[in-house]
Amino acid sequence: MSEVLEGRSALITGAAQGIGAATARLFAARGAKVVVADVNEEGGKETVAAIERDGGEAIFVRADITSAADVEAAVAATVGAYGRLDCAVNNAGIEEQGSALHEVTEEAWDKLVAVNLKGVFLSMKYEIRQMLAQGGGTIVNMASVAGLVGLPLGISDYSATKGGVISMTRTAAIEYVKQGIRINAVCPGVVRTALLDQAIQGGMFTEEQAAGLHPTGVLIDPADVAETFAFLCSDASRHITGQSIAVDCGMSAG
Ligand SMILES: NC(=O)c1ccc[n+]([C@@H]2O[C@H](COP(=O)([O-])OP(=O)(O)OC[C@H]3O[C@@H](n4cnc5c(N)ncnc54)[C@H](O)[C@@H]3O)[C@@H](O)[C@H]2O)c1
Repeated sequence: MSEVLEGRSALITGAAQGIGAATARLFAARGAKVVVADVNEEGGKETVAAIERDGGEAIFVRADITSAADVEAAVAATVGAYGRLDCAVNNAGIEEQGSALHEVTEEAWDKLVAVNLKGVFLSMKYEIRQMLAQGGGTIVNMASVAGLVGLPLGISDYSATKGGVISMTRTAAIEYVKQGIRINAVCPGVVRTALLDQAIQGGMFTEEQAAGLHPTGVLIDPADVAETFAFLCSDASRHITGQSIAVDCGMSAG
């Protein structure tokens, strides 16, 4: 299994920290050549350094996924460095402080939609153009359990963006299946990252309450979500497309 991504090129957005960084490190450990894309230059370079320390191959590209020019350049940088774009993980995303829907400002809504939904749209747009030109590829989008079920956490706006990613994934998968492009999404439960710390600090819940959302009562590690991204980019999942896979300890099953 360790060679499943051997020799493939992978563009991973939001890879300066959290789930994206864990995914970049796992992909490199499995033999992929990784492009770490993020607005956070310092963190992105740290991810590259960590990959290189482990004997892997990676470059950093500064890219804001809300900018078409940045995303197009990130895809071009991947092709420039590694010849093609085999795998794309559209992971970058944000979450505002939880607030009831009637208190969400227009500015907060626009910012959330710009990163979580438009950012994934732009990423897919330029990734698909490259994959059509080279004859195939694999895309995995980051959604959330919040896109699958209703949660009383003041995240209606965030849920809407993740539900949009799930719908876009499903329809795009059907549209490009005959061109050899597989498109799936991953829907994590509550993962130990800075995003979680931010939600705890913002008063959305305590760490115990967050863990209690999972039937198992434990939080998820970024590396566990990374494993699902690796599977969905590997040939082991070659018959899987258009799916949104929950990595949520059964949270959405009840
Ligand atoms: N942590 C969780 O519990 C959880 C659960 C479900 C889904 N998710 C999703 O997982 C993804 C990663 O979250 P995380 O928890 O690792 O968060 P994180 O805040 O630790 O990392 C997010 C990364 O995305 C980058 N980023 C933000 N806006 C960007 C932009 N416009 N362009 C490029 N990069 C940008 C940040 O700089 C950061 O490096 C997000 O899409 C999030 O919605 C997280």
